[in-house]
Amino acid sequence: MTDAIGYELDGDIAILKAQNPPVNALGHAVRVGLVNGLERAERDGAKAVLIYGDGSTYFAGADIREFGQAPREPGLPEVCDRIEASPLLVVSAMHGTALGGGLELALSTHYRIAVPSAKVGLPEVLLGILPGAGGTQRLPRVAGVEAALDLITTGRHVRADEAMKLGIIDRIEAGEPREIGMAYVRDLLDANAPRRPVSEMPSPEPVDFDAVYDAVLKKGRGQISPATAVRAVQAATELPFEQGIARERELFMELMNTDQRLGLIHAFFSERAVGKLPELKGVETRPLNAIGVIGGGTMGAGIATAALLSGLSVTMLEMSPEAAEAAKGRISGNLQGALKRGKINREKFETLTEKALSLATDYAALKDADLVIEAVFEEMEVKKKVFTQLDAVCKPGAVLATNTSYLDVNEIAAVTSRPADVIGLHFFSPAHVMKLLEIVVADKTSPDVVATGFALGKRLRKISVRAGVCDGFIGNRILSTYRTCADHMILDGASPYQIDAALEAFGFAMGPFAVADLAGLDIGYAVRKRKRAEGLDPRARDSSYADKLCEDGHFGQKTGKGYYDYGAGPKARVPNPDVLPLIAAERAAQGITPREFSDEEIVRRYMASMVNEAAKVVGEGIARRPLDVDMTLLFGYGFPRYRGGPLKWADLEGLSDLLADIRSWAEEDPYFWQPAPLLEELVAEGRNFDDLNKEAAS
Ligand code: CAA
Repeated sequence: MTDAIGYELDGDIAILKAQNPPVNALGHAVRVGLVNGLERAERDGAKAVLIYGDGSTYFAGADIREFGQAPREPGLPEVCDRIEASPLLVVSAMHGTALGGGLELALSTHYRIAVPSAKVGLPEVLLGILPGAGGTQRLPRVAGVEAALDLITTGRHVRADEAMKLGIIDRIEAGEPREIGMAYVRDLLDANAPRRPVSEMPSPEPVDFDAVYDAVLKKGRGQISPATAVRAVQAATELPFEQGIARERELFMELMNTDQRLGLIHAFFSERAVGKLPELKGVETRPLNAIGVIGGGTMGAGIATAALLSGLSVTMLEMSPEAAEAAKGRISGNLQGALKRGKINREKFETLTEKALSLATDYAALKDADLVIEAVFEEMEVKKKVFTQLDAVCKPGAVLATNTSYLDVNEIAAVTSRPADVIGLHFFSPAHVMKLLEIVVADKTSPDVVATGFALGKRLRKISVRAGVCDGFIGNRILSTYRTCADHMILDGASPYQIDAALEAFGFAMGPFAVADLAGLDIGYAVRKRKRAEGLDPRARDSSYADKLCEDGHFGQKTGKGYYDYGAGPKARVPNPDVLPLIAAERAAQGITPREFSDEEIVRRYMASMVNEAAKVVGEGIARRPLDVDMTLLFGYGFPRYRGGPLKWADLEGLSDLLADIRSWAEEDPYFWQPAPLLEELVAEGRNFDDLNKEAAS
C-alpha cells in the first residue's frame, strides 16, 4: 500500500479512500495504491470495492506535473483496465470534480453514485491532449456518440443531474461520499447486481465524423486536440474495444509530443501562479465591501457591473443626474445580459440595480467607500482633478485607484496627500467580461493596498497581473510595439487584410486592424497625436494614412467604417476600399517602393517585435516574470492560449534564432529593432524565459 490510498474492510466491502490533497490527482503513488488496494480486496475475500476521495473531491484527473517525465508503471490506462476486469463489484462515489483521468477511472468502475453538487468532465483537450485512459472509448458507449463528442471536444464540466441523464452517473444522493457510496454498494449486493464493464457494452452508433472533425477544427482556430479527439471517438464506433484503446493511445501520444500541449499546460500553471507574489505573503488586505466608481461610460459601467455581480455595493459618481441615469442604463443593460444567460435571477437583478447600486453627482457620496476606481477621460489633468477631490473626501485608509491605461500613476498619486493608498487598476473593456486586470504598483503604493487590489481581482474572478509604471504598463506597451511593427510592414508593402489574415491563421482571435476597428480608431489617433506633441524620436518611422481615416470621421465599427466596411453588420468584414489608396499615397509620399511579404514573414516579424518588447518589460522589472507577460497577452489581447503566451512561444521557437532575426532586421531599422538586453543575456547564457519563471518560483 501507499499512503495515497487508504484501505479498510467493512464486512464484505473493501473501501479505497484517495488521500492525495489538494485534488486527489492520479499521480504514481495513487495509481500504485489503487492496484494494491484492489489486489488486497480480492485476497481478503471482499465482494465489492468502494472507491471515493477524501477532502474536497474525487480524483480531479491525472497529475499534470508528471506530464513530460519518464512514464512510471502502472500507467492510468492499465489501472483502469485492472479495475474494470476485477471479479469484484467496483463502485465509485463521487463528489467535487471527477475530471479527466478521474472520470475515466470512474467509468472503469461498474457503478457510479454522486452527490448533487458533483461535476464531471473530460477537459483533456484544454491541456492539448485527449482522454488517454479509455475515456474516448468508454464514454460513447455509456452516453452515446453525440454527448461524448460534446463533452470531449469542449472539455466542459457537467453537473451531476445532467450526467445522470446522460447515463454517466447511476444515482444521485445527498450526503458524505463514503456514506452514500456504502449504502449504494449494499443495495447493489442485496439486489445481486452484476458487474457491468463498459468495455463489454455494444459499440455506439457512428455519426458523420468528417463533418464533425471539420467543424471542430474550424472552431479551435488552429488548436488540434479537440479535432484529434473526434478521431478517437470515431474509433469507438468502428473498432472493437481493445483496438479502439490502441487507437486512442496512438492519438494521445501524438498530442503529447506537440508544442500546443506545452503551451496549454504552461497556461494552466501560469494562470494559477500569476497572483502568487512572495512579497504579499501574510500581508493583510484592507476592508472591501463598498466601492465607488467615477465615470459611467462603457468602462466604468463594466467595472460597476463586475463589482455588483461579485456582491459589492457600488456608488456610481457622474457629472450630472442625466449622466448618472445613463450610466445606470448601461449597468442595467449589462446585468440584463447576465439575467438572460441565467447567471442571476430576476430577484437578484432587481436587488443589484435598485439596492446595491446607488447614483451620485457629489464626491461627498464617496466618503464611506473602501475603494474608489476612476474611469474618467484619459487625460492627466482630468485625472489629477479627480484625485485631488478624492483626497479631500475619502475616509482614511480608502484605496484610491485609477483605471488609466497609459498614464503615469506616480504623477497621479503625487497630487494626493496619501500616495501610499494610490494604485492603478487597469481593466479591459468590456470590464464585466474580460478576464484581465493589470494591478499597477506605483513607487509609493503600500503592500496592503497591492494585496487589496489582488483581493478585489480575485473577488471579481479576474486574472490579476502585477505591473510596474511605464507608458502602457505591460499590455499596452507591448501592444504599441507590435502595432508599430504591423504599421511598418504596411508601409513596406503588406496590406492590413493580409496581416489580419496571417495573424488569425496563427491563432489570434482577431488581427490587429480588426481589433483597432473594434476598439475605435480614435484611440490610436489620440495616442499618435500625444506622442507627436511630446516629440517623436527623429529615427522613428511615422505614417499618417490612418489619421486621414479619422479626419474623415471613420473610427471603425462604431461609425460603420474603418479598415473594414461594416455596412452589412459588425461581423461582415469587407475591406474598406478607401484604405489601400490612402496607403499607396503614403508610400509614394515617403518614397517607398512596396515589396511582397509572405504570411510567415508577417508572423515572424510581428511576434519577434512582441517578444523583444516583452523581454524589455521583464528586464526592466515592469513585469516580474515572463509568465506575467504571457498571462497579460492571453487574457487581455486575444493571444492564442494553445501557444502559451509570447514568451512561451519564443522559448519553443528558440531564442537564439529569434535574436538572430532581430539583429538582421536591425540592419535596416536600428531604432525599432534594438534587441532587448535580457534577450541577449539569455541567449548568451543558453537559458530561456521558462528558466526565469522557475527561478522566481523557487
Ligand atoms: N494535476 C496536478 N495538480 C493539479 C491538478 C492536476 N490534475 N489539478 C489541480 N492541480 C493543482 C493546481 O495546480 C493547484 O496547485 P497550487 O495550489 O500549487 O496552485 C491546486 O491543485 C488547486 O487547484 P485550483 O487552484 O485550480 O483549485 P480549484 O478548486 O479552483 O479547482 C479543479 C480545482 C477544478 C480540479 C481545477 O484545479 C482543475 O480544473 N484542474 C485540472 C483538471 C484536469 O484538467 N484534469 C485532467 C487532467 S489530464 C488527464 O487526466 C489526462 C489523462 O487521461 C492522462
